[in-house]
Amino acid sequence: MERDIPHTEVEGLAKSSTSPSPRLDPSRADFAQAVLAGFAQKPRSLPCRFFYDARGSALFEEITQLQEYYPTRVETALLEAHGAEIAERMGDARVLVEFGSGSSRKTSLLLSALAHVTLYVPIDVAGESLAEAAEWLSERHDGLAIRPLVADFTKTRTLPVAARRPRKLGFFSGSTIGNLTQAEARDFLANAARLLGRDAAFLVGVDLKKDPGILISAYNDRRGVTAAFNLNLLERINRELDGDIDVERFAHDAIYDEARGRIEMHLVSLARQTVRVLGRSFSFAKGERIHTENSHKYSVSEFQALAANAGWSPAHSWTDADRLFSLHLLRT
Ligand code: AVJ
Repeated sequence: MERDIPHTEVEGLAKSSTSPSPRLDPSRADFAQAVLAGFAQKPRSLPCRFFYDARGSALFEEITQLQEYYPTRVETALLEAHGAEIAERMGDARVLVEFGSGSSRKTSLLLSALAHVTLYVPIDVAGESLAEAAEWLSERHDGLAIRPLVADFTKTRTLPVAARRPRKLGFFSGSTIGNLTQAEARDFLANAARLLGRDAAFLVGVDLKKDPGILISAYNDRRGVTAAFNLNLLERINRELDGDIDVERFAHDAIYDEARGRIEMHLVSLARQTVRVLGRSFSFAKGERIHTENSHKYSVSEFQALAANAGWSPAHSWTDADRLFSLHLLRT
């Protein structure tokens, strides 16, 4: 794993904090490194992968049920409406690899359609939610073998031995690919092509470009659940990294950058203030922003071009009648 801060310095930080443990555990050290590096640079930023602690995962689940947040609802409806056709086009391969153990409900819908799949390999860094999802799915899919892989799916180079056979299927749902920049998405898709090998089929859920008003509402819901999700990053810093951040002095903001075709989430400092994290001080000007997430949107043809650039042949795509969301079938 790459670290900008030398290991010894991280240990030193742990000792100077009030933590009862003399060392930071690896996931906490990873979070510490990212927060200290992200707060030290300008403009400030925090990686979006840290949204998903227990509280953040629960808030995201709530987001998926919001009226304004259409992606989960529409993607699920696409899988329900076109499951049989998707399965027919994906073919009768036995292995399904899922990048990020997304929502079990969507995976279950796809597995029900893909009658030939006997082995399911979800890849995710969050070992706990991976195990939970595996249990939920094994209860619903008789005879399905599940081999979870605890790894960063953008970097995975090898699959478990049982999955190393020709003709694999891949699934990457929820428009999680939107968190990556175009260059990163291209690299991810190229790596996935290598991992899945020859004669593979890959189903990817991608949020579509649309009226910015719809996008802005989806990330600025009226009940403030997305705001709580974003602000939870600061609460997590307080909980895990001995932070003293007054969360009330930051506000959620989500904007649509039309030129870049992406939603950006930020936390805005409402006052001039100094916060402490792991014994270090960081001063924020009033109005200063912490960039916390990108969510890129693609037209059908833009995504097809990106996939083609990464070595995939776009085979088919499905969209809803309102053209809110797309499912792409790619082949190697
Ligand atoms: C899980 C990354 C697809 O970008 O829409 C939802 C995360 N952030 N609301 C998205 C998210 C704010 C979501 N992804």
